[in-house]
Amino acid sequence: MKKKTSDNVRTAFVGEAKAYFRLLAYAEKADEEDVPQIALLFRAVAEAERVHATRHLNLIKDLMVKDTDTNLENSFQREKTISETEYPEFVRQAEEEGEQLAAMTFSQARDAEGFHAKLYERAIYKVIKDEVTAYQVCQVCGYVTDKAAPDKCPVCGAPKEKFKTVE
Ligand SMILES: [Fe+2]
Ligand SMILES: [Fe+2]
Repeated sequence: MKKKTSDNVRTAFVGEAKAYFRLLAYAEKADEEDVPQIALLFRAVAEAERVHATRHLNLIKDLMVKDTDTNLENSFQREKTISETEYPEFVRQAEEEGEQLAAMTFSQARDAEGFHAKLYERAIYKVIKDEVTAYQVCQVCGYVTDKAAPDKCPVCGAPKEKFKTVE
């Protein structure tokens, strides 16, 4: 694909992916305000934006999605950068501005991303068992483990009930 078009496809993909989450938040608000038809409208269009995002991504899949070894390596590097460089800087700036809630959210995301990096690293070095086993994901902070859900999330302290199984 030519440069300008592929840049535009990328931009459109990001825009639609953002719209998906924004519209779901709008739908929640409409529920709170007790306007169920508007909530449904936002959910329906959110679903449509998800279709768009997926469709755009399909156009540039060969640019963004490689073979699994490469995808693992890229994901590992991305988690490393975000947990070692980007989030620490975001935490620092949030603290500087006295934005405690954002500082906590960023610092827990930073720690969770560090665990993601470890899981990828183990997969890269094939320290993964042959059988397929489920993962547990903390729905508060995004911590992921390949063990049983802990009584308390090691990153955010959430109880076991906050874990979602991915199998
Ligand atoms: Fe991550
Ligand atoms: Fe957590």
